[in-house]
Order: sequence, then C-alpha cells, then structure tokens
Amino acid sequence: MPVAVFEMPDGAEQVLDVPDDWSLMEAARRDGLEGIVAECGGGAICGTCHVQVDPRWYASLEAPGMMEEALLEVVPERCATSRLSCQVVMTPALDGIRVRVPSSQLEL
Ligand code: FES
Repeated sequence: MPVAVFEMPDGAEQVLDVPDDWSLMEAARRDGLEGIVAECGGGAICGTCHVQVDPRWYASLEAPGMMEEALLEVVPERCATSRLSCQVVMTPALDGIRVRVPSSQLEL
C-alpha cells in the first residue's frame, strides 16, 4: 500500500498507509494524526487540513482547484507548496510523498 510521510513541527515523522483514492487527510484522520483536524470533512471549506508539500513532490500533484486556491490564501503559514490534504488524493505515483504539518495546525 502506498505511504505518505508526515513531518510534524518538532521534526518527528509519521509514516501513514494511504490506500489509492484516499486523500491524505482521510488517512491522517483514520490514524488520529495531530494537527489534521479536518473540520469540514474534506469539503475544502475549513482549511484545518493544511500541509506544506515537500517541493520535490509538489510538481507531481494535480493543480489545486479554485476553492482550494481561495482557501489557501488565508491559511496561516502558507508557503509556495501549501495544499489542503483533503484535496491530495493518493495514486501509485505518489507513494512516498512527504508533507509537513505547519505548527499553526496544532493550535486549532
Ligand atoms: S478538511 Fe476542510 S478543507 Fe480540508
């Protein structure tokens, strides 16, 4: 099964199994990962699933949609590779993807 590596603000890493067609957020919630609250359940309207994608992986992702882009404008700690983890869907090509959980996510 594909995996995604979540780097926490303290540098600790958690490797999560992510079935194909699951979003990274769904796997994070299944495993109770701290910092991925996902208040809206994947509707791209809350921003509480924000992650910063490793730049080496960012180009492998489909471009964000308009709603995601709009929400990313207002999330704390936005960076050039920010994404909503509910909108990043696992495929075989993304096996091993690395993302970072911003420290502001732990304050939600
Ligand atoms: S879970 Fe709400 S925007 Fe991703």
